[in-house]
Amino acid sequence: MNPSDPIALLFGGLEKLGPGGDAHTLHVLRLLPRQHFQLVVDAGCGTGRQTFVLAKELRAVVHAVDSYEPFLNDLKYRAGSENIEQLVQTHCMDMAEIPQVFQGIDLLWSEGAAYNIGFPHALATWRSGMVADGFVVVSELSWLKDHAPLEVKKFFRSAYPGMQSVDGNIELAKTAGYRLLGTHILPRAAWVEGYYDVLAPRAKALLAHPELPVREYAAETIREIEVFEHSEDSYGYVFYVLQRA
Ligand SMILES: C[S@@+](CC[C@H](N)C(=O)[O-])C[C@H]1O[C@@H](n2cnc3c(N)ncnc32)[C@H](O)[C@@H]1O
Repeated sequence: MNPSDPIALLFGGLEKLGPGGDAHTLHVLRLLPRQHFQLVVDAGCGTGRQTFVLAKELRAVVHAVDSYEPFLNDLKYRAGSENIEQLVQTHCMDMAEIPQVFQGIDLLWSEGAAYNIGFPHALATWRSGMVADGFVVVSELSWLKDHAPLEVKKFFRSAYPGMQSVDGNIELAKTAGYRLLGTHILPRAAWVEGYYDVLAPRAKALLAHPELPVREYAAETIREIEVFEHSEDSYGYVFYVLQRA
């Protein structure tokens, strides 16, 4: 591990790289009207928590796409320890290039990652790699209430100015050429257990790191967690279950 890489220092070895959980992945997967797919892609797979749920449940090969190679190496190691390496193929690439590499996708899954290329841009881009009636399941940070505490609004004004309400994201999905099959909101516990409760002590310890970028990254993470603690459930992670229209 590079001792100055803030991502590796903060997230290295974590099973969850964002809010979520196996039970939620499984619940949302079962909302789909069918469970047999020819080509499954997991965009922004990270270390593969949800990749493994999909592979085991569908008994299908999942193409795990991420642009950060150390996460994919971790994913391959974990797949080996779970004896499912034959069900997972990793691809170190930009998720914006998925249609150039994959055609005929009938299930595109993405948890906590689409925002990296912009939620509407991700939906529009992925559509061109999908079969006519293919499915996209994507989780996205969304406003859950009309009013949020001032410090929360201030934080997201710079951290994620493009964040939309649930209705706003549904409209964006329709404009991008999908119909909505359902939504699922992650409960607070899915943010805390195995994610913020691991990240918070790590970030605090890294405030003493000799490298400034590491200290800054740690401080931003601590701030994000504080904002979450004061959020009054004004925002959350929402799964959008979509079918190409
Ligand atoms: C918040 S993590 C979520 C990872 C995983 N889905 C999970 O929930 O544990 C976002 C992931 O997106 C990846 N990522 C960011 N930008 C990307 C891009 N343009 N193309 C592919 N992966 C990207 C990051 O490396 C990271 O693994």
